[in-house]
Parts: sequence; C-alpha cells; structure tokens
Amino acid sequence: MKDLTPKQIKDMDYNELIGITKETNRIPGGRKTVFEIVNRTCIDRHSKVLEIGTSTGFTAIELSKLIPCYITSIDINEISLKETRKRAIKEKVENLKLLKADVNKLPFDDESFDLVIIGNVLSLMSNKEQAFNECRRVCKKSGFIVAVPMYYIVKPFNKLIKEVSEAIQVNISPLFEKDWDKFFDIPNLEVYYTKKFKFDYIMDKEVKSFVENILDRAHLKEMRKDTLNTLYKKYKDYMYLFRDNLSKMGFSIILLSNKMVWEDKELYTSKEIK
Ligand SMILES: C[S@@+](CC[C@H](N)C(=O)[O-])C[C@H]1O[C@@H](n2cnc3c(N)ncnc32)[C@H](O)[C@@H]1O
Repeated sequence: MKDLTPKQIKDMDYNELIGITKETNRIPGGRKTVFEIVNRTCIDRHSKVLEIGTSTGFTAIELSKLIPCYITSIDINEISLKETRKRAIKEKVENLKLLKADVNKLPFDDESFDLVIIGNVLSLMSNKEQAFNECRRVCKKSGFIVAVPMYYIVKPFNKLIKEVSEAIQVNISPLFEKDWDKFFDIPNLEVYYTKKFKFDYIMDKEVKSFVENILDRAHLKEMRKDTLNTLYKKYKDYMYLFRDNLSKMGFSIILLSNKMVWEDKELYTSKEIK
C-alpha cells in the first residue's frame, strides 16, 4: 500500500479500486434482498447453496447468519475471495466454502445444489445464456435459482454508458426490464416470483460523506499523501458516476426453478390482483 504511486491509481479501474479501498460490494437491495431470498426459497440448515460472484462475501455472510446452511461461494477474482475469507473469519462464519471458479464452467456435478444465487452477475457476462445454463445444470430439479439482475428504467445517454463501461471494464449494452423477461422465458423454466425495485437518487452530500468515510480507513493511512489524493479524486468521480447511472436503474428479485419434466402444461393460469 505504501509504495503505490498516483500513476498506478490513475491506471486502475473500479474493480481494482475496490481491492484497495475494501468497499463492501452488495447484491442489489443488500440485506433485504438476502432476507427475501431466504424467506422465499424454503431453504433450511441442511440445504446446499451456491452463490455466484460473491465479491467481498456480503451475501454469503448474511445468508449464513439467517440460516447456517452449507454455502459455497465462487468468484473469478482472487483478491475479492481473499477479502471474503477475512470477513468470514471475523464474523465467525462456518460452513462457507470459497472457490475461485468461472460461472461459465462450474466445477460441480449436475443437480448439486438446492439454491443457486446469481445476483447482478449475469449483466456483466458476454455469454449470459451459457452462464445461466450452468446455474440451471448444477441446481436440483426441486431447487431454486434466484437472479437479481439490474436494468434501466430510463433510457441512458450513450456518454453515460461509455463512462460506466470504462469504469467497470465491461462493455455494457443497456438492458431493460423486458429484456430480462425475455431472457428468462425459457422452455422448462418456471418463473415463481418477481419483485421489482427502483434505486433511490442519492444526494451529493451523502455521496461525499460516503467517500470520505471509506477513504478514512486505517489500512489507507500508510499510503503516500499524493497517492491518497489521487485515490480520493478518482474514487469520488466513480461514486458520482454510479449515482447518476443507478438513479436511472432498477432491479428485480426473480425466483426460478427447473420444471418437472412429467407435468402437463398449465392451462388455467392466473395473475396477482395489484
Ligand atoms: C457486481 S459484483 C457482484 C456483487 C454481488 N455479490 C451480487 O451478487 O450482485 C460481480 C462479481 O462477479 C464476479 N465475476 C465476474 N465474472 C465472473 C465469472 N465469469 N465467474 C464468476 N464470478 C465472476 C466479479 O469478480 C465480481 O466480484
């Protein structure tokens, strides 16, 4: 940390900056989403759960507090897994296995898990179908897959898309709610439940105070002053950019399950009266 230069910070994307700041990365909706998942999926302490793209382990740790089931969390980023490991030890989480793995090629047998959680990870995938097929493959026929995709509610300007794509180093093509409805409209996949949310608009002073709080962390104190100043500016710019982006976005908690192969088509379908 103490040898980092302003130039190194300037060259980093947002994911690399998370590695430096150790900012908590959450599933959209945070703790409430994890609570909703636990309540909706009927899991118990014997259940086997796979979480995809754990980042700093928020979902796994929150889930284990609600139900101490058997959790396996994967990510392709070794630095994130290292941070998750530290946090899990601090929170005395048992029954959590962490593994470096790619969602496109999961190292598990077919039908290994009762619940597969894929938060806002599919949005980042260039081959979403392959990644989701892997989630379906490793999920038991009687199990659930929960996806929490984000999407635009308001059409974004190209400039915003370009800046966010650069920040997270993923080529974003803007998706809307209807795109995800279409994506999950797959033969032999049942959509059990969908709950929709919209992100709040966060005021400037809240963003500023969040940034100051994060950069005041003890492990950053040993950083060179000029490097810390560069980090402050870059991190602050990213946070305002994400605020502008998320204020145009929402997300859905979508509960899915592989259909039983033997059942007849449901003829008399229904809709909730709202
Ligand atoms: C936006 S964060 C996810 C935050 C939160 N855990 C959630 O579920 O929404 C995306 C995470 O997915 C990981 N990721 C990206 N590509 C992946 C892949 N091919 N396989 C597994 N994890 C991947 C990233 O390293 C990052 O930690």
